[in-house]
Amino acid sequence: MGSITSVREAVGRIAGLSSNIVISVQSSQSVDLEFSNGLQNVVNTVAESTPEVISVRHNADPFLSAVQPARSGKLVTITTTSPTLLSAVPHLYKLASYPVVVHVSLEPAECPDYSVISSIRQCGFTFLHSETLQEAQDIALSSHALAVQSGKGVIHFFASADSAEDASIDFEDKEFVREVLDVDAAKPRLESTSSNLYANVDNTANARIEPEGAESSPQSVTSDDIYNIIAKIWEQIEKGTGRRYHAFEYAGPPNAESAIFVFGSNTKVFAREINDASSTDEFFGAGIISARLYRPWLSDKLVAVLPKTLRRFAVLEQTRKNTTKWGPVLLDLLVSLKTGESKNTAPVIVGHHLGSLEPTTVRQALRGIFQNLHSGSPVQNLRIGNQAVSGDSASPSEARQPEVENAYMKILSQVFGDHLHIANRYGNDNAGISSVIASSPEFGYGSLIARLDQRKTFVSEIQEEAKTQNFASDASKDSLSKWALSAEDPRRANQLAEEVVKSLSLDGSSAAARLLQSKALFFKESQWLIGSDAWAYDLGNSGIHHVLASGQNVNMLILDSQPYSERTAADATRRKKDIGLYAMNYGNAYVASVAVYSSYTQVLQAMLEASQFEGPSVVLAYLPYNKENDTPLTVLQETKKAVDLGYWPLYRWHPSDGDDGEPSFSLDSERIKRDLEEFLRRENQLSQLMRRHPEFSANLSNSYGSEVRELQKRNAKDAYSKLLEGLYGAPITILFASDNGNAESLAKRLGNRAKARGLKSMVLAMDDYPLEDLPKDENVVMITSTAGQGEFPQNGRGFWDGIKSANDLDLSSVKYAVFGLGDSHYWPRKEDRIYYNKPGKDLDARIKLLGAKPLVDLGLGDDQDPDGYQTGYGEWEPKLWAALGVDKVEGLPEEPAPLTNEDIKIQSNYLRGTIAEGLMDESTGAISASDQQLTKFHGTYMQDDRDIREERKAQGLEPAYSFMIRCRLPSGVATPQQWLQMDEISSAHGNETMKLTTRQTFQFHGIVKRKLRPAMRAINQALMTTIAACGDVNRNVMCSSLPERSQYHREVHAVSKKISDHLLPATTAYHEIWLKDDNDNKIQVAGNAVVDQEPLYGPTYLPRKFKITIAIPPHNDTDVYAHDIGLIAIKNGGEHLEGFNVLVGGGMGTTHNNKKTYPRTGSMIGYISAEKVHIACEKIMLVQRDYGDRKNRKHARMKYTIDDMGVDVFRGKVEELLGEKFEEPRPFKFFSNIDTFGWQKDEEGFNHFTVFIENGRIEDTADFPMRTGLREIAKVHKGEFRLTGNQHLILSKVHNDDLPMIKEMLAKYKLDNLQFSGLRLSSSACVAFPTCGLAMAESERYLPQLVTKLEDTLEENGLRHDSIVMRMTGCPNGCARPWLAEVAFVGKAYGAYNMYLGGGYHGQRLNKLFRSSIKEDEILAIMKPLLKRYALERQDGERFGDFVIRIGMIKATLEGKKFHDDVAEAEEDEES
Ligand SMILES: Cc1cc2nc3c(=O)[nH]c(=O)nc-3n(C[C@H](O)[C@H](O)[C@H](O)COP(=O)(O)O)c2cc1C
Ligand code: SF4
Repeated sequence: MGSITSVREAVGRIAGLSSNIVISVQSSQSVDLEFSNGLQNVVNTVAESTPEVISVRHNADPFLSAVQPARSGKLVTITTTSPTLLSAVPHLYKLASYPVVVHVSLEPAECPDYSVISSIRQCGFTFLHSETLQEAQDIALSSHALAVQSGKGVIHFFASADSAEDASIDFEDKEFVREVLDVDAAKPRLESTSSNLYANVDNTANARIEPEGAESSPQSVTSDDIYNIIAKIWEQIEKGTGRRYHAFEYAGPPNAESAIFVFGSNTKVFAREINDASSTDEFFGAGIISARLYRPWLSDKLVAVLPKTLRRFAVLEQTRKNTTKWGPVLLDLLVSLKTGESKNTAPVIVGHHLGSLEPTTVRQALRGIFQNLHSGSPVQNLRIGNQAVSGDSASPSEARQPEVENAYMKILSQVFGDHLHIANRYGNDNAGISSVIASSPEFGYGSLIARLDQRKTFVSEIQEEAKTQNFASDASKDSLSKWALSAEDPRRANQLAEEVVKSLSLDGSSAAARLLQSKALFFKESQWLIGSDAWAYDLGNSGIHHVLASGQNVNMLILDSQPYSERTAADATRRKKDIGLYAMNYGNAYVASVAVYSSYTQVLQAMLEASQFEGPSVVLAYLPYNKENDTPLTVLQETKKAVDLGYWPLYRWHPSDGDDGEPSFSLDSERIKRDLEEFLRRENQLSQLMRRHPEFSANLSNSYGSEVRELQKRNAKDAYSKLLEGLYGAPITILFASDNGNAESLAKRLGNRAKARGLKSMVLAMDDYPLEDLPKDENVVMITSTAGQGEFPQNGRGFWDGIKSANDLDLSSVKYAVFGLGDSHYWPRKEDRIYYNKPGKDLDARIKLLGAKPLVDLGLGDDQDPDGYQTGYGEWEPKLWAALGVDKVEGLPEEPAPLTNEDIKIQSNYLRGTIAEGLMDESTGAISASDQQLTKFHGTYMQDDRDIREERKAQGLEPAYSFMIRCRLPSGVATPQQWLQMDEISSAHGNETMKLTTRQTFQFHGIVKRKLRPAMRAINQALMTTIAACGDVNRNVMCSSLPERSQYHREVHAVSKKISDHLLPATTAYHEIWLKDDNDNKIQVAGNAVVDQEPLYGPTYLPRKFKITIAIPPHNDTDVYAHDIGLIAIKNGGEHLEGFNVLVGGGMGTTHNNKKTYPRTGSMIGYISAEKVHIACEKIMLVQRDYGDRKNRKHARMKYTIDDMGVDVFRGKVEELLGEKFEEPRPFKFFSNIDTFGWQKDEEGFNHFTVFIENGRIEDTADFPMRTGLREIAKVHKGEFRLTGNQHLILSKVHNDDLPMIKEMLAKYKLDNLQFSGLRLSSSACVAFPTCGLAMAESERYLPQLVTKLEDTLEENGLRHDSIVMRMTGCPNGCARPWLAEVAFVGKAYGAYNMYLGGGYHGQRLNKLFRSSIKEDEILAIMKPLLKRYALERQDGERFGDFVIRIGMIKATLEGKKFHDDVAEAEEDEES
């Protein structure tokens, strides 16, 4: 038998064994009450199933969760600490009529406050008390047995510290528990659906109709009944264990003359001390009494245990604060002993307040008590022990603002600065008031009203004062009267307040001095009250109601932290009411619903508007989290789901700001909840809103929910079936699940081939197929690939969940076949082999189990086979045809070749396609597949938000499509004006952030289709373009950013611009689609007479993307080796540009596990003069245009063209076109490929500051309003904004005169902070999730966290300031150029990365695979010791990338073709 060491575990185990539902009240999500230990693995003997454990936060009205289950006949237990009890009083009265058990651990631990128990003693519950560990187990059992047998609620209370030193006890005996609980007696009640358990106890029908809200009143159970039941239970326990319990327990001699009654902890310590007393001690021979059964209070049982000889009786009540003169237990005793027959012989009763006692002070305390007791006139309410134990009656965790919720407080502070007043801030200093009370909204409200009144009085005083002659100068009087006039206008009042304070300070009069004592009142504060959404449960009685009803100018910020994913798990009966709706209906309040992780700007706006509104304001702020230590990423993802799907709409409602003083409503997100919609409809707002924003109408009137999804599935299948009607041949349903298209294209091809063989084929994604049809379908073929770690692809998960759980699905008349696609090396460790093709295997086994007959055996395709999955598929498909009897069909038609990118380009009419038409289609947020390829040439990609992809699918919605726009910005140089325009575009059209990319340009994300054209126009208005920023053309031309030698740099920059312009595509489609205004008829539309020419590109453009970069030694900050053309600037003898060394064939993109793909560093082909370099670039591009592989896009980059033909041949072809030969390359030297942070001065005296922008993301957060800071700087900066290839930013060309101002602004917005580790400063990540459709793992959102986890190790080993180039990408496409980093992580699956080591510090050498598919714990386990070793063993000046090669951890990769050679892991793998 195991053993139990803690009281909460003992209690939790009993609760788990005795309940159907356990509600575990959590003081905060990170503090899991110990009770839960006891709940784990405990089987419920009553319901013969594991109890359901529901965790509810203390501030979310936890007791409400018990009401419904209790009413429906469930045995409900609540485990909690005492501070939650008082606010649960309304529920306790209801719950008392059901067999609900509440186990209460009293707080604070060091000196539990028993007044909480006495305050609720009248709530109808029975109260039992335990002290020791063993008692806790027995009394917990007694409580449950009593609840079951009496049908009444029982509260079991204890102080866990009392038993802290107790020896461990045995686990409960389950059989015994079952016996005592009297399970059999309970069962009929449990099985009954009656809502009133009481009726069954009495075996009388419960025909009484309860008025709504009223609980059944159990008149039939009297105090005596309770006593009889508990006495029987205790007898049973005594019989089983030998331990005996009584309602009151007395210890001491039977003839004691004095005794103490302890209502508190430490009874056994007192008892021991009394027992050990010597005859000289005042308390020698005294007795000690405690109540085991505190309620019902049974006077006769008390009298029965008291010695008849008792003359003096001391009552010790462990309570923190007295609300009445006499302690409640003292009153109980008075009633018991001083009434009735015994009243004349009753002992003298003296009340004492018990504080905390150390074991060493117990004796002294007892002496004090007995001296008082025996004195002639004993002092009542004498305090014993230390009363002033650390503050308040709640545990520290109860009165703390969860860290994660601080975001909103930070924004409030940022917005209102010194003038912010939070009335109920956690940690406020309120002398004499506990922090729990001081942080309660009710307290805050009271104090705010007082504060408002105080200021009002102050204003009238000033008005009067200004008329007097009390001041030395008239200036003071003038300023006071001016101020008094504007005292309620925050902006004016605060401006004038400064003046008033100044003139009063100079005044010198006593009146001025007196007023200055209340200086703070001159300022108009922004006053806030912080509330949790617990107020929402009972709106009519809540703080919200009071504030609204008062009409006072109070701003409330109400935080809702319920995660979106949990919303439906919540008990339907305890749904919160919508505070926003309530407040809007009230009509006098400003109401806003905001979410900082969705729109920072909207939060700011709402707070400012709320503060300015003269009257109550309610700002509902969403911050969903499960645990306090949830990462910002989790909070962000939850927020996005909630906002996107309208669960948490973003809006602002001003009751009188619209036309004619009517309410105005602004919807700041796209979708809203139905009840809000109804409200708006009622208020006639919706129609106005729709008129003003017709784009919302579709979404506003959309109904949604899973039924929609079901309907969609049904419709899709029925439409298909209709199509097949009338066709002959056997039906075959082909279902696929595919993330990246392999399985899907196989399925579609199979469908076509089936048709060609005369079968009636239907091809659907698994999740689009109504599962209930499966038993009726004759032949079903399923093709699934493998995602994640052996998981189903996204569009097959619902189907698999359905199949897995549908035990009653009878597939005996179905014939089936399964083909799986996977990669046997995706997860290389032996123990991970189970993930190979897991979905295919699982599906096959499950379908077979459900009775279906296999047509053919499971087929498996493996990416590792010579022809990838085609190898396995090639063998499997013929078997399928044979099984269906259609293998010998003659004259099969030739299959049409799939549409390639080359076809799309040719058919596009110079990149037009049907883009213009697609943009007008409002029925979808998407554009057609081929237009998706074409828009890339225009600088925009279609994406969808992957954070909410699944949720939207579940809701029957199409993915949240949006567009990424990339600008073309040669050398990454922008003016401050352009910066402001870009910033504005990100707010007006995008997702309020900008990404500075690894190729020195701006990228916007989250632009929805209808905003695409306006965004493009705005970019062009800023004199930038997006043409050819993506696509199979020459893209943005990069150039080293830091203009150290400004003149020279200007010359090089001019060349980059020249190359960029020279290689621009000539098509007019860009202008036509994006820029023409609506009346412009002159512009060509497809098919018109103007014919485009592309002299450089031709109609098919290039085989693949093409990138050019320039580096100015000694900085390789543009990674010159990584691009199709890399130009190394060469200076003449003086300070001027002479020409360039030319590298060709660099490139990063690869495909995992495809050894035919590899990254490559550029090959040097010689030197060319600056005048001719753009022509040389053109000729290189033309050779690639004509010789590049146009069949296989994975082999189409110039790096492969060069490797296939050899560098010399390639150079020869270029020289032929150029008409001259390249010269010998000139000497040059690079030192690094990272940025040079901080201030630099150039030779012309201008200053340049490189700002660290982590991974190039420009955004505002509560901690760091970076975007705002840069915007403010852009308003005054006269130089340039230069984007670096490492995604940072240079504030360039700052004149000496402006230097102090710019420095001050940088400091103000914390933009001058460069106190980061060398590792962080040298790190770089691509975008990846949530927008990049190719991402397999997080990158930009994860790398910063990973760096943080390594920084302690860096610190410990003295590497904090060492630069180590570390990069991360979400997939092997390589946007952040990971293959050149000294250490790199490339996404393999969500949470898993391939790790590469050994890149050259200045970007000259590729790295090599070190480990594949490793997760964070393994990454840290490798990196931490490695960093330590580097610190200890590196040679002088040795770089990390060189070090790992020297120590033999990895072989150097000297050229791209050798990238896959000598990979340590693959060898190991093959041996195993
Ligand atoms: C993120 C990711 C995770 C993968 N995980 C596995 C896996 O656990 N087991 C496996 O056998 N194959 C795995 N694969 C390999 C794919 O199943 C395989 O490449 C397949 O051909 C992809 O087909 P699809 O394009 O239809 O999604 C994974 C591929 C990716 C991209
Ligand atoms: S590297 Fe991959 S995941 Fe990262 S942004 Fe580029 S394509 Fe997306």
